[in-house]
Amino acid sequence: MCGIVGYWGPHNPKDVIINGLKKLEYRGYDSAGVAILDHGNFKIVRASGKLSELQKKLEGEKFDGHIGIGHTRWATHGVPSERNAHPHSVDGVSLVHNGIIENYQEIKEKLAHEGVQFSSDTDSELVAHLIARDIKHTQNLLKSVHNILPKLRGAYSIVVVWKNQPDTLVAFKNGPPLILGLGEKDVVIASDVQAIVEYTKNILYLEDFESVEVRGTDYSVYDAQFNKVFKKPHLIEWNSKVIEKSGYDTFMLKEIFEEPRAVASALAPHIDLEKMQVQLASLGFSVDSFEKLSQLDIKKDYAKTLEVFKEIDRIFIIACGTSFYAGQVGEYLIENFAKLAVEVDIASEFRYRDPVIPKNSLVVVVSQSGETADTLAALRLAKQAGARTLSITNVYRSSIDREAQGHLYLNAGTEIGVASTKAFVATLAVFNLLALQIAKAREQVTAIQEKQILQALLAAPSQMEGVLSYDKFFNEAAKHFKSFKGLLYMGRGISYPLAMEGALKLKELAYMHAEGYAAGEMKHGPLALIDERMLIVMVAPQDKHFEKTLSNLQEAKARGGKIISIGTGECRELKDLSEYYLSLPKADWFINPLLEVIPLQLLAYHVARALDYDVDQPRNLAKSVTVE
Ligand code: M6R
Repeated sequence: MCGIVGYWGPHNPKDVIINGLKKLEYRGYDSAGVAILDHGNFKIVRASGKLSELQKKLEGEKFDGHIGIGHTRWATHGVPSERNAHPHSVDGVSLVHNGIIENYQEIKEKLAHEGVQFSSDTDSELVAHLIARDIKHTQNLLKSVHNILPKLRGAYSIVVVWKNQPDTLVAFKNGPPLILGLGEKDVVIASDVQAIVEYTKNILYLEDFESVEVRGTDYSVYDAQFNKVFKKPHLIEWNSKVIEKSGYDTFMLKEIFEEPRAVASALAPHIDLEKMQVQLASLGFSVDSFEKLSQLDIKKDYAKTLEVFKEIDRIFIIACGTSFYAGQVGEYLIENFAKLAVEVDIASEFRYRDPVIPKNSLVVVVSQSGETADTLAALRLAKQAGARTLSITNVYRSSIDREAQGHLYLNAGTEIGVASTKAFVATLAVFNLLALQIAKAREQVTAIQEKQILQALLAAPSQMEGVLSYDKFFNEAAKHFKSFKGLLYMGRGISYPLAMEGALKLKELAYMHAEGYAAGEMKHGPLALIDERMLIVMVAPQDKHFEKTLSNLQEAKARGGKIISIGTGECRELKDLSEYYLSLPKADWFINPLLEVIPLQLLAYHVARALDYDVDQPRNLAKSVTVE
């Protein structure tokens, strides 16, 4: 999840690129850098830390060229440092990259074997090496980019320049967004339209697998087979209303598109990137009131957190609605990572059923708003019973946050859409870290496993960016879905709560009947619902449940159900059984929910839009439910 900018034109490239990076800093701020043409070479200036550090370094710098690229980084491969900052430059080829090269290890070993020396720990540098080696033969930047693309696997976008073609920018998109702004006299390429609109509102959105060559104000777009295609830019509206929604039609869509960033922000405070270790460092268990949080001794508090996590015998997770389904995912994570018993409960049930809460319990209350009446009441009950309490909220100083003993934050930014979206993924990110930290305290995870889990989590935002491109598919396909009599969502294991969440989203936005079920329960009743007027949404990633889920799908198909399946990669079995197959990137089982929820949210969103409903404020609902 990084931000990239490329510029060609009469303005000072340094100013345009820095302005653009400021707008993109939300995408990552571990380091930043630019490569700008100066006396025939691309001069690189990079700095570790926030963009302001780069700005300081650039103060005295002058460039005589009119072209350059810039980058603000969210670290995945390699710690945040100047050495790992972009652009990466090899023999006059300079490159900025957003995303992940999945087969980087393989490429690195091959290049190392051929004697290549590396100047960073990133996957991005490898791409610069591949292009620089190829360009010796082609003497053409576009050709060399096209030549090396088949060697790369993953979701990534790049912008590249080469000193021997000083008027040319070449960009490629596969997953993370890349947008081209085409002004009368200048061209800006960026990860977000916000970095472009100051210069031009004439915008061209690149699709996955498309590449573009910019030569001055001239440009050519190429498709996945590298054939030239004609694509016309269009003028976008950018008034104060649009600015509020950052160019999206609705807050909900804006918030769905903010999900990769929400996950990155939820993870950031708790991962020591140098050591690749989890550190839930300021939970506040060492102080006796919320007010004393500001005086926290972080070391002491971390020791106390570990002590609490070691002592507990059982965990309760209590929440409502979408937060409850996030809690169910938390159950799978904690039981698997930490081997500790977890019970998940709906707050309104928990508070009235005289629950047995043993003393050595940790009660985790989850609430985006931090104000949900039932969740707050459940928290108070848990405290009365003498349990330890921990809140996971998005609103600092909300009632639930203030009353809990320990505090975790989603850092997702304000969520305006009544349907919860980005808070859900941020909660999943926090549960992953919580599960890992509990596992660590209880010695249930090795240092290697910890590192692998954190690496997978850090890579998730980039993978999520790729999945967002299903927005276009649902925008088109939703009109076919709105006439079904109902939708049945199913999944197994950690994907079961995702089926529940998908059904909830459809109910609240599109006012259609939807059921969420554990796929294994299908034969115990819901199978009777299935006929050709029922749309089945099966969440079936390649995990240990896949074969069984596939059998459920066959049974549904045999009863005439129409099927949308969500799976991993090129899955022939799912494709053959489904009317629509949606492919997600290959990921670890604990990452899958972060990817699966995006098509589920987009499906509900676009069906509701096709029915002309208000998605930001669905009927009868409120963002914060402060009454029972
Ligand atoms: O603020 P909370 O997380 O406590 O809210 C809980 C539910 O009211 C909320 O998730 C609700 O289900 C959403 N409208 C779902 O999109």
